[in-house]
Amino acid sequence: MCGIVGFIGQREIKRQLIEGLRELEYRGYDSAGIAVMQDAHIQSFKAVGKLSNLDEKTKNFETSGLGVGIGHTRWATHGKPTELNAHPHMGEYSYVVHNGIIENYREIKTALEKVGVNFLSQTDTEVIVHLFEKEVERYKNLFDAFKATIDQLDGAYAVLLVSQKAPDTIFFARKGSPMIIGKNRNQEVFFASSDAPLIGEAEEVAYMEDGTIGYATPDTIYAEPDSLVFVPLAGDKLTAQKGGYRFFMEKEIYEQYDVMNDTMIGRVLDDDVAFEELNEAFLDGISRIKFCACGTSYHAALASSYLFERQAKIPVEVEIASEFRYKEPLLTDDTLFVVISQSGETADTLEALKMAKNAGLRTLAICNVDNSSIVRLADATILTRAGIEKGVASTKAFATQVMVLWMLALYFAKKRGTLNATAIQKEVEAMSRVPSVLKKALDVHEKCKRLSKRYLHGHGFFFIGRDIFYPLALEGALKLKEISYLHAEGYPAGEMKHGPIALADAELFTIALMPKTLLYDKTKSNVEELSARDSTILAISPEFFDLADDFILTHPHEHMMLEFFEMMVVEQLLAMEVAIRLGNDVDMPRNLAKSVTVE
Ligand code: F6R
Repeated sequence: MCGIVGFIGQREIKRQLIEGLRELEYRGYDSAGIAVMQDAHIQSFKAVGKLSNLDEKTKNFETSGLGVGIGHTRWATHGKPTELNAHPHMGEYSYVVHNGIIENYREIKTALEKVGVNFLSQTDTEVIVHLFEKEVERYKNLFDAFKATIDQLDGAYAVLLVSQKAPDTIFFARKGSPMIIGKNRNQEVFFASSDAPLIGEAEEVAYMEDGTIGYATPDTIYAEPDSLVFVPLAGDKLTAQKGGYRFFMEKEIYEQYDVMNDTMIGRVLDDDVAFEELNEAFLDGISRIKFCACGTSYHAALASSYLFERQAKIPVEVEIASEFRYKEPLLTDDTLFVVISQSGETADTLEALKMAKNAGLRTLAICNVDNSSIVRLADATILTRAGIEKGVASTKAFATQVMVLWMLALYFAKKRGTLNATAIQKEVEAMSRVPSVLKKALDVHEKCKRLSKRYLHGHGFFFIGRDIFYPLALEGALKLKEISYLHAEGYPAGEMKHGPIALADAELFTIALMPKTLLYDKTKSNVEELSARDSTILAISPEFFDLADDFILTHPHEHMMLEFFEMMVVEQLLAMEVAIRLGNDVDMPRNLAKSVTVE
């Protein structure tokens, strides 16, 4: 999880790069660096820690006239946060910055070392620049050499490379990690990992598709395939930050593909999961887990409890933080106390964490905001890397929480030896497919838009599901009620007959989560019971269900978590479209705040 910026133009380049990196600080980082090229001469600066340290290091350096620069904030994945490991990485005459992970870097590094290349850092990124310079020896044309380099990389990347052999040029490539290119009438060219640094600077931007590779100079932007579609970037910060979407919530739903890649970088490996944040001994002596959270974060915890028990065979309890605080809980020191919070500032969750710490429990925070109160207090933290979430109704933060918890369940399973290598491999493979599932799930947006007109009234919504789809039903209902102000409940499908089914009539809307991978027939029977009592049914399933009044067809998947993530997107889109039709402010629903710092 890193931030990248690039610039070609006449301005003072150092300031341009560092200010751009400042706009990306929210992505989290532990070191930063820039490389500036003028008249075929490159200077590079790096610093560990905050950008103020880079400011200090570069205070006597200034440029004037045309120049080219690349900059980077690094979140350590391979190798510690040191100056040597910070980007840009240099070869003999070229520099590179990279966001993502090069999975086959070891093979490339070994091959390059055999032909005499010396490496200075422990990073995966450094192979790119050395490989490029080797390819330059083979190809006369630098772009051909760059293409040959990128061709050999497996994994995820957004790459910017500059070389003294091409003095006004930035080479770029994207696969799996976000990158935007911008331009303006002054022949200035900008690159960034998100649009924040480009607002007020670029007039038009193109959001690069995976597989894009190209180069830019003051006169030309060339890309293969020819897929760069430049769209105007609004000058006003708020409109521009929405990136053409109607609401932040919509943007955040659409962003989930990129964000999920960031969440997984360095953690989901070829046949394993890893957390640099947890030291070897962290889980020693732990034989149970207690999750504690509020709202959407509580739903993420509840969903993961099924995974922890099923995969890691460890007893799990999930508590709502505001309840936990006053129940005089019995806490034992073999319990890992895990708090989950997007903001890291939720008062109830923070207080619960303090109670657990005072009781001597080992504590872990799963959080989206580095340096938040919860992160500072917990013994260890795993950041979800969702980026700033502006919409009050949580979307991408929930997705990344569930993903981190799934990875953690697998991490536990491995440590406890409860899953064999084949089962672990299967989980990891499913994980690697999540980003593309999040993207494909968006195909039903138009359908949700059309269906939404039928769901603007009624005396209530019941979102129902079984197993892990029950917490997802809770989350779907919460999304809908928060932004549409319609009454919605999440319920276990099998529990409806124990009371709530009394409400069933044509004005009771049942949103049925009917995955094929998990208890399909059982859920189907429960939906049939509701249908027989005339409830209006909207079924979400990969299998057509003839009793449904409305139907959203999802893609078939082999793993329940892939169905989970796809249905999550459907719920988000549906809630948003209903709320938009009702004329509500989707991003700032009435009575709600993004960070609940009161009890
Ligand atoms: C719902 C939502 C809230 C939060 C809850 C906890 O969309 O966002 O329910 O999940 O207030 O907040 P965090 O996760 O910041 O502790």
